[in-house]
Amino acid sequence: MPALIALPGNEEHAHRLGSRLDCAVVVPELRQFPDGELYVRIDGEIGDRAVIVGSASGDNFLRIAFVAGTARDLGATRVGLVAPYLAYMRQDSRFKAGEGVTASYFARLVSNTVDWLVTVDPHLHRIDSLDGLYTIPTTIVRAAPAIARWIAAEVHRPVLVGPDAESVQWVSAVAQLCGAPFVILEKTRRGDRDVSISSPDRAWNDHTPVVIDDIVSTGRTMIEATRQLRAAGAAPPMCIAIHAVFADALHDALLDAGARGIVTCDTIPHATNRIAIADLLADAVRERL
Ligand code: R5P
Repeated sequence: MPALIALPGNEEHAHRLGSRLDCAVVVPELRQFPDGELYVRIDGEIGDRAVIVGSASGDNFLRIAFVAGTARDLGATRVGLVAPYLAYMRQDSRFKAGEGVTASYFARLVSNTVDWLVTVDPHLHRIDSLDGLYTIPTTIVRAAPAIARWIAAEVHRPVLVGPDAESVQWVSAVAQLCGAPFVILEKTRRGDRDVSISSPDRAWNDHTPVVIDDIVSTGRTMIEATRQLRAAGAAPPMCIAIHAVFADALHDALLDAGARGIVTCDTIPHATNRIAIADLLADAVRERL
């Protein structure tokens, strides 16, 4: 079986996968030289197949590239990447003249570095398939079954709420699995921390709203959706995000806006992680080995 190579901060993910796939986990030595450059050493059995486990956020790319290079030098002929969170998917278009379409450049870098990719619910919006970006084989794991199970166990009479048009893909899948109604609101984003969201067309005050989004970053989307629901007379919503990016500390602001709380899937380690995706991820990785 291939070795799973855990990037820093992803050791738990790697061990959860390792126990499900019966693969050994190798933790590489990755540190910075005094000048800031990266040092890499893999002290462990690699064999001919290696799987790097770590979210491909911007800063991690160089680590992924150096670990993949080292694994190949140590004998791996096939190197895969399990990136539970796939970064750079939101800049998928040139919104202003002169902007870089970094979703595409990042995909090119990753495609030139590893042989396959498994990820969880990437932000597919204006580009509707990873095949339009990545030239390597990719697998998308859907978190919907795990989210639907959590809602069925924890929320009484849920109504699912998507805060913007692109959320319909996640919200409708969860709604179908847990047999709940859903509504999709409209979002206008004027800046990184400046969003407005439309009001729901009814109060749903005999239900518990569950706002579902793929990413919580600054939290403005969750906060504004919560405000609109409360202003319309809805009960305190539970907020669920697949990827706990959390660029800003927002827990208090979300509660102040009237939310019941926020939970996330464990694609990015965070205190709000409540929904485990390891089984779904392991099934997808097994298909690639
Ligand atoms: C973008 O449209 C995504 O689906 C999320 O709605 C967005 O990334 C959330 O960002 P923030 O938490 O900064 O509002």
